Amino acid sequence: FHIDMDPQAAKKGAYPYYMLKEIDEQPGVMRTLIQEYFNEDGSVKIDQELLDALSKADRLYIVAAGTSYHAGLVGKELFEKLVHIPTEIHVASEFAYNPPLLSEKPFFIFLTQSGETADSRQVLTQVNEWGYPSLTITNVANSTLSREATYTLLLHAGPEIAVASTKAYTAQIALEAILVKAYGEAKDIKAAKDFDVAVELTKVANGMQELVDEKGDIEKVAQDMFATTRNAFYIGRGVDYALAQEAALKLKEVSYVQTEGFASGELKHGTIALIEEGTPVVAIITDPKTAAHTRSNAQEVIARGANVLFISSRDVAAEGDQIILPEVDPLLSPLVSVVPTQLLAYYVSLQRGYDVDKPRNLAKSVTVE
Ligand code: AGP
Repeated sequence: FHIDMDPQAAKKGAYPYYMLKEIDEQPGVMRTLIQEYFNEDGSVKIDQELLDALSKADRLYIVAAGTSYHAGLVGKELFEKLVHIPTEIHVASEFAYNPPLLSEKPFFIFLTQSGETADSRQVLTQVNEWGYPSLTITNVANSTLSREATYTLLLHAGPEIAVASTKAYTAQIALEAILVKAYGEAKDIKAAKDFDVAVELTKVANGMQELVDEKGDIEKVAQDMFATTRNAFYIGRGVDYALAQEAALKLKEVSYVQTEGFASGELKHGTIALIEEGTPVVAIITDPKTAAHTRSNAQEVIARGANVLFISSRDVAAEGDQIILPEVDPLLSPLVSVVPTQLLAYYVSLQRGYDVDKPRNLAKSVTVE
């Protein structure tokens, strides 16, 4: 099942917009990544030279923009929790001001769907001048950032046409998990060796399929909660906070609703002042360790009139939660929790009559600094 091998894949076909097609393609992309990066015997197919270079590093720097930056937020969790390497994540345009490199042996990972983002390329040029090794994870073979980095790993997600990135985000997280697995095997690190990524990504693909098959539920939420709103919040903790930031960007860029992805525990330190009667707040709850806290933060905004949508994993779900997610490993939960938020952005945009694939003021690849 190789989407990128089929030239027809870029055609919209029966879909009204590429964005919906690309959301639907995500389960298949997970399966393609398993095929591309795992051998029959379950070992990971990643270039040994890349793993050797990665193994020499004492600190990782993930550099990206927009949605790819949000995929890096999850990558940081994966690298630090499973293979214990200190990992910094930087917005490309901010890194350009040369933060202090706190490392003798840094390794740079660039996440970029297009491989052409000027902000990211500017940093890669600097990294090459410093002479440090780099890896570009991209959806476009032979793109500028691929050619100029030491190593490349391809997302095999097929052409992503809609300006709002969806399948590239989930492919980037999946490939980061695969890379962490390979790194953990190379360094003989138990936590990574015990993390059966191929099994977990198969569960993710099945979970994604369940969610895209129930897209009508999300269409109804879009009508009931977001029809007239001018602002909204996504709240969560840990990886749910990382996801909240991506979910907010999706809603903003295709429906123009002013949306913040916010650390749920931080609301009471000021931002809760913005909550009014009917303000839509989406609470993302997938981690048993943080579920109770996020739920109490949700109660705080409900007390102030907010309209709360609960998106929760089956194992931490409570009575009244509107969207229940299939259970996957907590570290990979953004791969399933993102699907309803991508669909929500799509339906809110559609209901407002906007061009979902080509939102105002935006370009698919930002090749200017
Ligand atoms: C995401 O929906 C946006 N289209 C935008 O933020 C994008 O992620 C960003 O410009 C980075 O692009 P890249 O992944 O091609 O580098």
